[in-house]
Amino acid sequence: MQKPKYVLGIESTCDETGAAVVQNGKIILSNIIASSADIHRKYGGVFPELACRRHIEAIIPVVDEALQTAGVSPDQIDLIAVAKGPGLIGALLIGMNAAKGLSIAWKKPLIGVNHVEAHLYASMMDVERVPLPALGLVLSGGHTLMLKILEIGAYEPIGTTVDDAIGEAFDKVGNLLGLPYPGGPEVEKLARLGNPKAFPLSAGKVKRSPLNFSFSGLKTAVLYAMKGNVDKAGIAASFQETALRDVAHKALLASQTFDCQSIILGGGVTANQRLKEIMKETFPHLPIFWPPGTLSLDNAAMIAGLGAHKFTGLSDPLDLEAKTRILIV
Ligand code: KG4
Ligand code: ZN
Repeated sequence: MQKPKYVLGIESTCDETGAAVVQNGKIILSNIIASSADIHRKYGGVFPELACRRHIEAIIPVVDEALQTAGVSPDQIDLIAVAKGPGLIGALLIGMNAAKGLSIAWKKPLIGVNHVEAHLYASMMDVERVPLPALGLVLSGGHTLMLKILEIGAYEPIGTTVDDAIGEAFDKVGNLLGLPYPGGPEVEKLARLGNPKAFPLSAGKVKRSPLNFSFSGLKTAVLYAMKGNVDKAGIAASFQETALRDVAHKALLASQTFDCQSIILGGGVTANQRLKEIMKETFPHLPIFWPPGTLSLDNAAMIAGLGAHKFTGLSDPLDLEAKTRILIV
């Protein structure tokens, strides 16, 4: 089967409406994102109903803009790839139904891909050969996942969070510190001004599961540290250092459980510069693959890229379901 030349990707799992055109599975011709983060700000987190309304308004303009920017017409598109989950169900359905509608109207095949897998794929999309097996780390607002990557599509679970996802912990700590949503980038900015040793904090240990994560206790510890304290930068820096070092430490332990050849990261938290420093320091002996540019955060280019990789010539059926929870392992 000839690989699809132009793939239209559609992403709507949370609060970003995305459409992208990717050529030959790796050249990003356009990657358009309309975020509704501004309307969620006053609620301190994503308000699903409002996210859905924005998706409905944005989806067609975003697809139009992706095609226009790429200079590709609908009849040139060979495949439509859509994020089928995990995510907010109402949000997912909007992207899914748009993709199905376009698939019918344009007579183009459709493929549903896993959003979490696409986050990891973002780091491999433009790489000639990734040394495998690798340790995969998905660090986002909805997921904290460590897995063994045997090949793209073949994964074995290693660890996950038993409570908050790491990005969620950043967002909640941002909230406690009075920073706007999403808290992750704001906490990172504030942390640059503070001493990471200002407050002795520790990340959660999960009984009998040393490779699982727990961030809710750390968040509560931040709440206590805040009581009567004005050193917000010190708190932000101490929280960030503790959470990221916990990830790196458990990743090192995980990498020692198999013949690990490289580290592959994905998800919004990988935009964090301090994480990059800590991971480099922890894994001086292994190649580390990061999502390029803006591909850390939710985007449709990673959906199109993974769709191109997975497509075997057969369209997914039109009753393809969007799902809140789907596992890649
Ligand atoms: O991957 P993503 O866009 O959406 C999900 O699939 O969840 O990740 C968004 C998450 C948010 O929690 C956001 O605060 C966090 O990524 N994030 C960061 C940074 N930039 C985004 N966390 C820490 N440091 C950052 N620089
Ligand atoms: Zn995501």
